Amino acid sequence: MKVDVLLGLQWGDEGKGKVVDVLTPRYDVVARFQGGPNAGHTLEFEGQKYVLRSIPSGIFQGDKVNIIGNGVVLDPSLFKAEAEALEASGHPLKERLHISKKAHLILPTHRILDAAYEAAKGASKVGTTGKGIGPTYTDKVSRNGLRVGDILNNFEAKYAAAKARHEQILKSLNYEYDITELEKQWMEGIEYLRQFNLVDSEHEINNLLKEGKSVLCEGAQGTMLDVDFGSYPFVTSSNTICAGACTGLGLGPNKIGEVYGIMKAYCTRVGSGPFPTELFDETGKKIRDLGHEYGAVTGRERRCGWADLVALRYSIMINGVTQLILMKSDVLDDFETIKACVAYKVNGEEIDYFPFDINEGVEPVYVEMPGWKTDMTKMTSEDEFPEEFNAYISFLEEQLGTPIKIVSVGPDRAQTIERYTEE
Ligand code: GDP
Ligand code: IMO
Ligand code: MG
Repeated sequence: MKVDVLLGLQWGDEGKGKVVDVLTPRYDVVARFQGGPNAGHTLEFEGQKYVLRSIPSGIFQGDKVNIIGNGVVLDPSLFKAEAEALEASGHPLKERLHISKKAHLILPTHRILDAAYEAAKGASKVGTTGKGIGPTYTDKVSRNGLRVGDILNNFEAKYAAAKARHEQILKSLNYEYDITELEKQWMEGIEYLRQFNLVDSEHEINNLLKEGKSVLCEGAQGTMLDVDFGSYPFVTSSNTICAGACTGLGLGPNKIGEVYGIMKAYCTRVGSGPFPTELFDETGKKIRDLGHEYGAVTGRERRCGWADLVALRYSIMINGVTQLILMKSDVLDDFETIKACVAYKVNGEEIDYFPFDINEGVEPVYVEMPGWKTDMTKMTSEDEFPEEFNAYISFLEEQLGTPIKIVSVGPDRAQTIERYTEE
């Protein structure tokens, strides 16, 4: 029996997809537990690049079971496009992918509502991915949602009622829209979904555990986007943290073993909201260019800055992280110096904890270190790491009180270095 959880510690896009793919051979099952097609998880191997949105990143490694759990919100039309593209590229998944009947459906009107609410917020908009995530989770919590299992029984009537309710809201917002094409594709998606294994995934996953199988839970977004602990209200609408794996898959907390926390060697954010270490200068631009920091799905420019150790310490605490995975180290290969934020200055006072509100008046306090000025992308062992990079790793481990077990030096599956462990 073994359940490990892998999740992002920053504002998403840390490289979760890549590492789930790398770790999958060690597990029998890979499961997504929250979020939906707001995610874009990139994997690269054998010269091919794939971006997954709702399908777990374990889908490429042999015949592992991949589960979309009850905590996920699923858009049938986007799911169809994603699944068909994978099948067309020679990766059959119908047998291997199991979808919880309790996962909630994103309706076409949820996407329209997402756009309408954002428009109504004007300058204070969240900068959502526009995929209907917020409205779908809102309906779930207010007990108005439609679930995947609903497509098996009297679906048309349930859909019509939900749509009518949404239309009322859109009318009250005076929001103009055309649903025709969206709805057509969505209905095709519903029919497509019927071909899949729609399961009671909480039973399935617990039965697999009883048989001695191991599970890797794949988080989406990041801890700073968590609806409870992130930079509210500029967050997503689900619990992206470790506890989300329990509610989003039906797992008891005592089943959780390792918690892998993924972080970039620096930090990025997409959409609106506070970002204390954001760089608006040439250095920020250089990180964006070298790191190709543009949204995996939307192509939106990602905001870039130095690593924020105050926020990371908070994320590690909330998730009970047992080991860190340091991503995109190679992006900093060509910097004279590297900075990391070790404390915040708020109203002239230095604090080392994450405060209630980081929306205003938070000034980062930096430590500056020499850069390594070495190409790390072809390295295969930590023995090759330059001295300055080793110093950066030791500094992070000390500041964060958690060991860094894996270092990523490029987007490809092969560009992954495990460090020696002292157990
Ligand atoms: P996710 O949402 O956490 O899965 O991350 P994304 O896929 O949205 O963004 C991570 C991006 O960085 C992708 O384009 C990856 O191919 C790329 N990537 C992952 N690890 C590394 C790395 O170590 N170095 C570099 N240069 N790119 C990486
Ligand atoms: P992965 O899994 C980065 C951000 C959006 C916006 C906020 C709310 O690839 O790391 P939403 O559409 O969820 O209501 O948007 O959250 N966001 C992400 N940022 N990576 C993601 O996913 C994200 N999913 C949502 O940009 O600021
Ligand atoms: Mg992403």
